[in-house]
Amino acid sequence: MSFAHQTVLLGEVVRLFSPGVDRVIVDGTLGGGGHSEALLEAGFRVVGVDRDPQALAAATARLSRFGERFRAVKGEFGDVARLVEAPVGGLVLDLGVSSPQLDTPARGFSFQSDGPLDMRMGDEGETAAELIARLPEGELADLIYLYGEERASRGIARELKARLPTTTFAAVEAVKAGVPRRAWPKETHVATRTFQALRIAVNRELEQLEQALSALPGLLGEGGVAAIISFHSLEDRLVKQTFRRLCGEVDDAPRGLPIVQQRTAQFESLARKAIVATDAEVDQNPRARSARLRAIRKLSGVTS
Ligand SMILES: C[S@@+](CC[C@H](N)C(=O)[O-])C[C@H]1O[C@@H](n2cnc3c(N)ncnc32)[C@H](O)[C@@H]1O
Repeated sequence: MSFAHQTVLLGEVVRLFSPGVDRVIVDGTLGGGGHSEALLEAGFRVVGVDRDPQALAAATARLSRFGERFRAVKGEFGDVARLVEAPVGGLVLDLGVSSPQLDTPARGFSFQSDGPLDMRMGDEGETAAELIARLPEGELADLIYLYGEERASRGIARELKARLPTTTFAAVEAVKAGVPRRAWPKETHVATRTFQALRIAVNRELEQLEQALSALPGLLGEGGVAAIISFHSLEDRLVKQTFRRLCGEVDDAPRGLPIVQQRTAQFESLARKAIVATDAEVDQNPRARSARLRAIRKLSGVTS
């Protein structure tokens, strides 16, 4: 089965993990297995988690040569505390959808090709069409505003509720009708923000991320590393704020005062600023442009 996903920030992720045999790394977003493969090649054991059966099948075939050093688990990374036995040496999350998910019209993620309005990364739960049909108009508008940072959310929600689209192209038409022509963005497609919002809601993406972040102290052993790649500001903000808190940095110190390192710090930061892709990587893989990698390491002598 072909599963063409170009892995982002590959070297940058692997370099964050200190070498050492028999350390288990959880790849919570296995996808095509790119990060897992590099970690296995570096000598780690890997548990790969994905909610998408197609990704699991493709990655399992790709990584079979590593034998029992690799294990695939179907599930959601928000449940990582239940899926994996603690402590582990690391957690990698490369958030968002894979290229095969985005590029397969039948999965319903893309406004550029017609397909059922599905958007589920896995094979369970409510589709985007069902979500639109179920939610009251006001809640749908709030969701589009919050997760898509879309200012025309009210008009879009009104059109979506009036038309109840079941295909991606029908949803695009509803969005077009809901945004005044003069307010259509010039650089991006008019449906980009709405599709992002629906996808986040259908897959409970922020909830999943919050759950995984709150599992970190119990999941990682001493010296364990969490490395998270996000692709939009809502995710990145959540990761940044949680990492700061875990590193004992006071987020809400009055302006002008230095950030204080508290004695309660459980983790240390491995990169003061988000790590981004090099120009060479972005030239080769435009998706890498918005990738932000943040990482922390659990300190020694910390009990969770
Ligand atoms: C960007 S791709 C990962 C690509 C992978 N790092 C690689 O190099 O091939 C994201 C993958 O994470 C999965 N995924 C996203 N959210 C998930 C969640 N909450 N639980 C489990 N898998 C998830 C998606 O199904 C998708 O296969």
